Amino acid sequence: MSFISQDEISMIRNSASIVDVISSYLPLTQKGKNYFGVCPFHEDHSPSMSVSPEKQIYKCFSCGATGNVFTFLENYLNISFAEAVSLLANQLGIAIQTPLLKKKVDQYQKEFDLMNLALRFFQNNLYSKEGERARLYLKERGLLEGTIKEFSIGLALDKNLFFSLFSKKEYSDSLLENLGLISRNETQFYDVFQNRIMFPIHDLDGHVVGFTARCYLYDMTPKYLNTKETYLFKKGHILFNYHRAKENVRLTKQVLVVEGNMDAIRLSSVGIKNVVALMGTSLTKEQIEALKKLRSQIVLMLDNDEAGERATFQIGTLLEENHISFLIVRLSGEKDPDSYVLQNGKEAILENVKNAISFVDFQLNYLKKNKNLKEASDLSEYIKAVIESLKSNNDAILKEVTLQKLANDYNISYTVLKEQLGNEEKKGNYIVKEKPKEKKKKSGYEKICEEILYYMMNDVSYIRLYQTKLGMFPTQEHRLIANEILYYYEMNKTMHLADFITYAQTTNVKDAIMDILRNVETNELTEKAMLELIAHAKKKIKEQTIEKLKIELSKELDENKKTALALKIVEIKGSVSDENN
Ligand code: UTP
Ligand code: MN
Repeated sequence: MSFISQDEISMIRNSASIVDVISSYLPLTQKGKNYFGVCPFHEDHSPSMSVSPEKQIYKCFSCGATGNVFTFLENYLNISFAEAVSLLANQLGIAIQTPLLKKKVDQYQKEFDLMNLALRFFQNNLYSKEGERARLYLKERGLLEGTIKEFSIGLALDKNLFFSLFSKKEYSDSLLENLGLISRNETQFYDVFQNRIMFPIHDLDGHVVGFTARCYLYDMTPKYLNTKETYLFKKGHILFNYHRAKENVRLTKQVLVVEGNMDAIRLSSVGIKNVVALMGTSLTKEQIEALKKLRSQIVLMLDNDEAGERATFQIGTLLEENHISFLIVRLSGEKDPDSYVLQNGKEAILENVKNAISFVDFQLNYLKKNKNLKEASDLSEYIKAVIESLKSNNDAILKEVTLQKLANDYNISYTVLKEQLGNEEKKGNYIVKEKPKEKKKKSGYEKICEEILYYMMNDVSYIRLYQTKLGMFPTQEHRLIANEILYYYEMNKTMHLADFITYAQTTNVKDAIMDILRNVETNELTEKAMLELIAHAKKKIKEQTIEKLKIELSKELDENKKTALALKIVEIKGSVSDENN
């Protein structure tokens, strides 16, 4: 992150008012010298987040979220640090000297350029004479000019036209091959994509990293040929249309997840822009992370066939195990959202989204399939399957309601159902899983060290007190943090918490630092309190040293060394009581 200078960063941060920035996203009310608002980083209705104009930081007393204006923008808008800096600079009308996002762009600039050039080549083909049939195909599918342009749809022709042109450019054959654009047999290179409609695929940040290519002249297998896995194109890390949908998802607070690229394109073309496609029927953990980042309601709307139903069950189970809430839409009549919209229009599909059902309701239906519930064995299998599927559900009330419904509908004892669910939950340790992760309990000594570090992050005078009165922490974790504080102080000759937070993000101990900022109660800081903390710490440190020496003493055989150790202990003990007086 060193590509923008610290000076530039702190200049930008200094020019902004954290109260102005945050209140442009959520209402803040002034109380005393601070401002308060509803924290956007956890579900809440009371104003537990305070914003300090003096310190230029925010802190939520409920979930602990804290940071400066940059971390707020990063977390609220799901953008990178560099993007946050650039956004703020833009808003303030400050020109940034150093190019942002330099690292990533530099690293893959050549590749991105090449992919864009390839994309333009395919787009041109579509409008050439040879592209006539492809244009007709797209027209027959009801894709308008604007949509074709918006999704940069193109065409790959045959006769290795791509390779003959691109091998003359400055790109090496191996680069073209490594990015999955060409391939080779014993004698020569050839175009991977031939006679196919080309849909570019972007990574989450919007760089073209690959293509999915559909046959259109006649049926070919596969129907869609995708770029092979390359260092840029990792299918499992990508959701089709994510970079375009992001903005709209933020506004609508909802993201529709569909199977096919064409479903996403179709929905988007009728103005339903908050849609991403899985490009198949599975969901990876990277894709889950990407969805989580959107912090919106997820609506799964997969194909209306058996594969889509099975995928809904599997993906639903996975989301539930990851404690992500979501809803489900099952369309009827048409094969997929694409044809549903073509047949019934935008309003009809929006109505379906409005009536999305819970996963439990889906499961109750799904598990019934191919079962004759009038038969005892089928019914018992069904009940067991429902209970099995309930165990990973987090919603205690929903579980309760479902059990009661089952008991009523099938005339089974509620108590038996409840007991059975209890057994299942114990088996899978699901109950344990539901609890929030238990934090390691901190010792009194650790707490004191953290408070001292907290003081140091807040004012130069406390750094000086630390230097003159304590000097160093014996524990490595605290020493590392202190070193960062001192280094920052050394470099900047000043200490401003909001700027230090930015610096902290570049260090190896950023999590520990943010942890301290979250955990330490922010009362009025006073020199007296800091001196008391230091005295406590010294006492603890000495006690620890004495303990260590005592252990050494008990193991020591050499009489002379024993005496030396004993003297040392007495000496340290003396200094402890001195200081207590
Ligand atoms: P579908 O077969 O449902 O595609 O596959 P679709 O969206 O309905 O496509 P059209 O309407 O026939 O053009 C869903 C997704 O699975 C992936 C693609 O990403 C596709 O969008 N897929 C499908 C492949 O990767 N390869 C294939 O051969 C088929
Ligand atoms: Mn489909």
